[in-house]
Amino acid sequence: MESEEKINILMEHFLQEMNHVSEIRHLETLRIKYLGRKGLLTAHLRSLGSLPQQERPQVGRKINQAKEKMLSLLADKREAIKKASVEDEIRIDVTLPGRPFLLGRKHPITQIREEIEKIFTSMGFQIQEGPDVETDYYNFEALNIPPEHPARDVWDTLYLKTGDKKTKGEFLLRTHTSPVQIRVMEKHSPPLAVIAPGRCYRRDAADSSHSPVFHQVEGFLVDRGIAFSDLKGILVIFVHRMFSSETRLRFRPSFFPFTEPSAEVDIECFVCHGEGCSLCKHSGWLEILGAGMIDPEVFRYVGYGKEYTGFAFGMGVERIALLKYGIDDMRLFYENDLRFLRQF
Ligand code: PHE
Repeated sequence: MESEEKINILMEHFLQEMNHVSEIRHLETLRIKYLGRKGLLTAHLRSLGSLPQQERPQVGRKINQAKEKMLSLLADKREAIKKASVEDEIRIDVTLPGRPFLLGRKHPITQIREEIEKIFTSMGFQIQEGPDVETDYYNFEALNIPPEHPARDVWDTLYLKTGDKKTKGEFLLRTHTSPVQIRVMEKHSPPLAVIAPGRCYRRDAADSSHSPVFHQVEGFLVDRGIAFSDLKGILVIFVHRMFSSETRLRFRPSFFPFTEPSAEVDIECFVCHGEGCSLCKHSGWLEILGAGMIDPEVFRYVGYGKEYTGFAFGMGVERIALLKYGIDDMRLFYENDLRFLRQF
């Protein structure tokens, strides 16, 4: 049976070739080679006519069986390759180095704000917050800044148009965090030790030291017998923890309608240590905050009796951050350039 023998050999070759196939696309090449229109097995089918009449049915059957077998082997192999490739994907190589995680971090202004908060809460101050949208009463009037008072010019205010006739002109964006003093004192009686961090707004053009939106931390303490020396003590501790225990402070007489007496507080320039340099504009000192003893007029607005005294202070978070990190342009904090932010 010469023809049947040829088909057996063809089958063996087919099996050998198929054993080497590892990709699905090569299975198709193999199918075409044996079973395609000009395929090796197909050729046998075509030459069936040249065989002696009595051999044809048996050889024909043999060819068809071989064809069926090849097709089913190809299908099985196809499934096996598919399954193996899925298993490959889920196999984990524990020796591979890990992929680095891109970690986010806190914005430098947030970091400084939290540092300030931590220093004061460790001394017993509590954190309170007030709204960004304020009324004239809380932002000015109850802080002893009556309407038409020239001191209002200090705070270039952004007013909100509400469209409502009744409230028109009444709402504004707070120009400082001092209104939180009023809101807290209205609700709670002394003793009080509070810090109030938050956003403030002023009608300022942005430059290296101004921004229409910035951050302050307000602080105030009210009880019987609180003196200016208490304010000094608390601020010395704050500056020593925030900057360095060597840093000297200077209290300069100043004016705020809601404190009396008032002071602006400077720290010794840590670049030149008082010698004079470009950071401190050759004064040897850097201003960091405004402070003073809460004006009795403010206590009158919130209904506190004469037995209480207290101090208040307000500092700019950006200002502290600029000084602490030695940055000379505030706009860097708002541009969100990752090359800048990644350094903190
Ligand atoms: N609110 C003042 C400002 O923004 C700062 C300040 C706060 C001064 C508390 C004295 C007491 O300029």
